[in-house]
Amino acid sequence: MMKFNLWCFALLIFLASCGSSTKISRKTIESNEKFAAEQYKILAKNTPPYEMPVNYDPEKKAFKVGKTDWWTSGFYPGSLWLIYKATNDPVIKEEAENRLKLQENIKYFTDNHDIGFMIFCSFGTAYDITKKPEYKDVILTAAESATKRYNNNMKAIQSWNKSNRYQAPVIIDNMMNLELLEWASQNGGDKKYAEIARNHANTTLRNHFRRDNSSYHVVDYNAETGAVAKKVTHQGFADESAWARGQAWGLYGFTMMYRFTKDKKYLDLANKIAAFVLDHPNLPKDKIPYWDFDVPDIPNAKRDASAGAIIASALLELAQYSSGNLKKKYVSDATTMIEALSTTYRSAKGANKGFILQHSVGHLPGKSEVDVSLTYADYYYLEALDRYKRWVL
Ligand code: GLY
Repeated sequence: MMKFNLWCFALLIFLASCGSSTKISRKTIESNEKFAAEQYKILAKNTPPYEMPVNYDPEKKAFKVGKTDWWTSGFYPGSLWLIYKATNDPVIKEEAENRLKLQENIKYFTDNHDIGFMIFCSFGTAYDITKKPEYKDVILTAAESATKRYNNNMKAIQSWNKSNRYQAPVIIDNMMNLELLEWASQNGGDKKYAEIARNHANTTLRNHFRRDNSSYHVVDYNAETGAVAKKVTHQGFADESAWARGQAWGLYGFTMMYRFTKDKKYLDLANKIAAFVLDHPNLPKDKIPYWDFDVPDIPNAKRDASAGAIIASALLELAQYSSGNLKKKYVSDATTMIEALSTTYRSAKGANKGFILQHSVGHLPGKSEVDVSLTYADYYYLEALDRYKRWVL
């Protein structure tokens, strides 16, 4: 009997160390989507008609909204479309359509690299669901705008403008903007969009990654020669640290690039980034990362639910291109993350002005958005729920 108990105990420890191996049920996923719909009706009431929700800081009781030229503006309309897709709720659909109208003028935006986030997460998601040709027109126009920041000397799209701090910076986040270009190129747009996206991805692959497959946040270039000027951080703990959301953008970005190109070097890198994140000794048991993998106050450091949501969604796609134990691991770890996001990191009913998730970190070194609800955490969480239903269940 004693021997049997010991064996059971050992098995339990083994299963716990493997993370969650039981799938989340369809019922649970759908109940999370229903919760999201109710929260977003509250968020809609709290958000002025000509702005988009950005974040909610529960400690300061501060709700921040922003104009459509802020980089996060596309996530609210995109989230509404994802909720509508899941629930068919007509109230959510009306709000989604209204918010999309507000977002349309951003198709000409060239002040920084963020047009991919702003247009593809909103109009791209809306088009995927509705197939309305006018939404596609907006996406194609936006892709042309995105090319305006491409520098052929650097073979990359410049993220931010020249400043006291940077000459021609490219941040790892910029990988996400390539989805707009790749999609547009394969859906009636100019072939040059895909060429630019691939050049940018190749430059990022060459210059952003360290030997351990973590990435720098910012690589600053000489705009005339294309030479690397410096490699630093902007939102991470230190120049040489692994800022969690940066690793998430890289993982998602290279997985997405493999979807469009089937170029094995992107898949290889995505797998290496996944290994860096998932095997990292500082990744907590619930697999929601600290805001930076190298911050010295771990385990007391703040977690970043937004990084967790982006990684979960990316892993579900990467699992599609994997097999055997690796595929199982990606699904299992994404399951653990989604379970955590749906419980510990979920807002109480009606709380946080209507945001779905809490406990994200935007820019800790800038003392901004520390332990808050963030619009993009919600978006990638909803995308992960949708992908889970389509690809896992
Ligand atoms: N793209 C900015 C951020 O991840 O905070």
